[in-house]
Amino acid sequence: MNVPLLDLQAQYETVKDKIKPVIDEIFETQRFILGAHGVALEEEIARYCGVPYAIGVASGTDALLLSMKALGVGQGDAVITTPFTFFATAGAIVNLGARPIFVDIEAAGFEMDTEALSLFLKKECEYVPAARATVHTASNLTIKAILPVHLYGQCADMDEILAIADRFNLPVIEDACQAIGASYKGKKAGALGTFGCFSFFPSKNLGGAGDGGMVVTEDKELADRVRLLRGHGAHHRYYHDIVGFNSRLDELQAAVLRVKLPYLDGWAKMRLEHAVKYAEAFQSAGLLDDVTPPTILPGRSHIFHQYVIRAKRRDELQAFLKEAGIGCEVYYPVSLHEQACFRNLGYAAEDLPRSAAAAREVLALPVYPELTDEQRNRVVDRIAAFYFS
Ligand SMILES: Cc1ncc(COP(=O)(O)O)c(C=O)c1O
Repeated sequence: MNVPLLDLQAQYETVKDKIKPVIDEIFETQRFILGAHGVALEEEIARYCGVPYAIGVASGTDALLLSMKALGVGQGDAVITTPFTFFATAGAIVNLGARPIFVDIEAAGFEMDTEALSLFLKKECEYVPAARATVHTASNLTIKAILPVHLYGQCADMDEILAIADRFNLPVIEDACQAIGASYKGKKAGALGTFGCFSFFPSKNLGGAGDGGMVVTEDKELADRVRLLRGHGAHHRYYHDIVGFNSRLDELQAAVLRVKLPYLDGWAKMRLEHAVKYAEAFQSAGLLDDVTPPTILPGRSHIFHQYVIRAKRRDELQAFLKEAGIGCEVYYPVSLHEQACFRNLGYAAEDLPRSAAAAREVLALPVYPELTDEQRNRVVDRIAAFYFS
């Protein structure tokens, strides 16, 4: 029995009767950009997240880029994030001319370690009241924002991060690209910081039929700025107030996402059920010396965009599972502080040891909603075969 890591075809079967007519409708109207579906989706996502404003953009990467640009991030600035994330988190910072500063992840999960964040700001940065800015003393760069990542679908410790940010007068941008629908102490991911950024890449829990993204915020002025930035900075067509980007969420994406949004929480519940059953199965198979299942941290609801274990002899296990027809993947094999393109930042592997270790140990297993009990049992069975034979 083969078990894919993700089966989008299976999901499509459950929604295709609703998707086909709206796609047809869009082709009939030939309105592809900034139409009724885009506007409606923005309202629906804002309501879903419990915030007043949502702005559709072309991708999760652009959601990050436009949020940071709206906060004035640019040359001479730095943004604090973690290196254990998808490349786009740090790539967006660099593409604005700023520098990513990495703090390590926490021991229990994969999100930003708030002690490391606090220590870094206290020891290496100084708040300059006259400039109302926090400056990194060694580099003289201005810290413009903190960018925690809600990796795999679980929120970072936002109370702590927001409290630290407040002390240094810094905005917080949530990279919630993997976490739409997750919550932290009853509030939705994306609705906790100054900005929340979502990705609608097809494999995401809420995935489109191509690239797409969304920025959410409670701040009207910032929302207006992101809206301006996504359309080349023009208030009215051909009259440009600022230099922006071309980054709109197109109608086909918005329509597909509107069909899927009502299913999102139900899908997340099914993912969670798989996660619970995996953990039970690892325990009853006696695998807990070899495999560490993910932890749900206090105050959080996990949407299990990815179900990621830490595994002994990870690379061998991955090869064994692939050979056995079990889909599995390493997200991510290289911590960003060790990426070739970031050598200039001057990090050594041991500077961020938890991220470096995670990159050596993590393995994502199939957790999509349509996965059957039989398939999930097969995954566990093959993992047991690897360690016990
Ligand atoms: C953590 C994280 N940040 C940013 C992105 C970028 O999103 P997109 O692929 O939609 O540009 C992704 C998506 O893959 C992601 O997982």
